[in-house]
Amino acid sequence: MTEKIIKSADRVKDHGEVFTPNNIVKLMLVQPEIQAKIHDLSATFLEPSAGEGAFLVELLKQKMAIALSKSTSAVTYNRNCLIALSSLYGIEYLEDNVEMLVMNMITTFNQLYIQDITNFAKKPSKHVLESAKVIIRANMAQGDTLKYVNADGNPILFSEWKSVGSKVQRTEYTFESIVNQSGPTGTVQNASEQLDLFAGTDAFDNAPKAEQTKLPKYALCNWVDIYKQKLEVEG
Ligand SMILES: C[S@@+](CC[C@H](N)C(=O)[O-])C[C@H]1O[C@@H](n2cnc3c(N)ncnc32)[C@H](O)[C@@H]1O
Repeated sequence: MTEKIIKSADRVKDHGEVFTPNNIVKLMLVQPEIQAKIHDLSATFLEPSAGEGAFLVELLKQKMAIALSKSTSAVTYNRNCLIALSSLYGIEYLEDNVEMLVMNMITTFNQLYIQDITNFAKKPSKHVLESAKVIIRANMAQGDTLKYVNADGNPILFSEWKSVGSKVQRTEYTFESIVNQSGPTGTVQNASEQLDLFAGTDAFDNAPKAEQTKLPKYALCNWVDIYKQKLEVEG
């Protein structure tokens, strides 16, 4: 089937909406420095004008293949494929594109997970599938990348999913605080200024902690329990 790269002339004029064909995406991802990040399951990628996820969906496919190759059991595969998924972020302005983006990410994750878990002679875990949905909805934002705001005019929020031993600590940051951090080169800062596709591996490391004060604090949990979205109990 031929890929549709343009929806209408008006959308091209108003939003610069032209989708990248999959063969071009694959050619771009083949670069050694990009492949090195793909092989690092937790190295983050941001697609700042994500469309329907041309790059994010292909990145997910490639990262899930790496997650499988690094796993020795169903338990480690369940964790590794969620770590891979949690490293992918997108922002898209148009509502119908975001709906397709979220659907494409969920469909791709589900198909690959349900197929690959059979390598370990195990059935798919509902907890993994539910946690994947929570991660995708948190990591795919509808908004304006240049203004850092979502469709309601509020700050775009992104969650950091940080491995702590075999568990995960979820922490929310405003996208603006990540962009404006004085972090090392090759971070989201450069990506958003130039509208480059790829963010750095440590985009969250220097984001100001003050930004988090009013945001919910999530409890440390197992990767497969992310779907419960349990908050930290204040002591
Ligand atoms: C050239 S298309 C690329 C889509 C996708 N990255 C791809 O390669 O197929 C640009 C996309 O950016 C979106 N867009 C335009 N301005 C934006 C903004 N300020 N913030 C977020 N998305 C934006 C458009 O709606 C469109 O879907």
